[in-house]
Amino acid sequence: MRRNIVAGNWKMNNDLSQTEALITELKKQNQTSNCEIMIAPTHTNLWHAFEALRLSDIEVIAQNMHYEDNGAFTGEISAPMLNSVGVTTVILGHSERRAYFKETDAVLAKKVDAALRHNMRVIFCFGEELDDRKAGRQESVVKDQISNGLFHLTEQAWNNIVLAYEPVWAIGTGETASPEQAQEMHQFIRQVLTEQYGNRVGDATSILYGGSVKPSNAAELFAKNDVDGGLIGGASLKAEDFFAIVNAF
Ligand code: 13P
Repeated sequence: MRRNIVAGNWKMNNDLSQTEALITELKKQNQTSNCEIMIAPTHTNLWHAFEALRLSDIEVIAQNMHYEDNGAFTGEISAPMLNSVGVTTVILGHSERRAYFKETDAVLAKKVDAALRHNMRVIFCFGEELDDRKAGRQESVVKDQISNGLFHLTEQAWNNIVLAYEPVWAIGTGETASPEQAQEMHQFIRQVLTEQYGNRVGDATSILYGGSVKPSNAAELFAKNDVDGGLIGGASLKAEDFFAIVNAF
């Protein structure tokens, strides 16, 4: 069975004291929930967050990593380094990484392999830009991103892959895909997976939606059949909003 997940991507926000404060608030809000809960603080605060949330059911995950284990890659961080501070899930392929840091499908495929080699779970992001949607090519763009980044994997490897559809035009813009637009794309993605890997992978893979999810729209998005949760940016920076989204399940 696929799992419901709400993950907060903090992006480049929150220094150490802000991280401490937000985690204190998150712990106050956290009661029993019907989904897995994750937060992705910036790298320098992963260890603190992991320690602070050790006894909670909030998982601390990373926003990015390099595909090599170590070496002359100034400014980068590797899977073994993440593992060493308790982090076993990583977000890869976020549109901000693709756009600002020129991460290509080929590089992302290597990152996915590195993460899986170190027994990590991957939240793999993709999504079309506004021009793609206007031109009606959103499905082919998304299919290419998924197949180039992930279709070299074995069926078994998909046990550790979560997908996150994040249309670029909806990220940080306040403009959310409608529940119908999200469902239409998620259904398409599941169909693409099923065609490639069969029903087991198609049914069992969680597909999250990301892009201006907020307390006011989370419930109607999560109510859709093929939307298994959300990757939350801005609204994950306030404990109350984040848990209002978690409680939408
Ligand atoms: P917003 O929720 O701020 O639109 O960001 C979405 C996102 O990029 C999550 O990874």
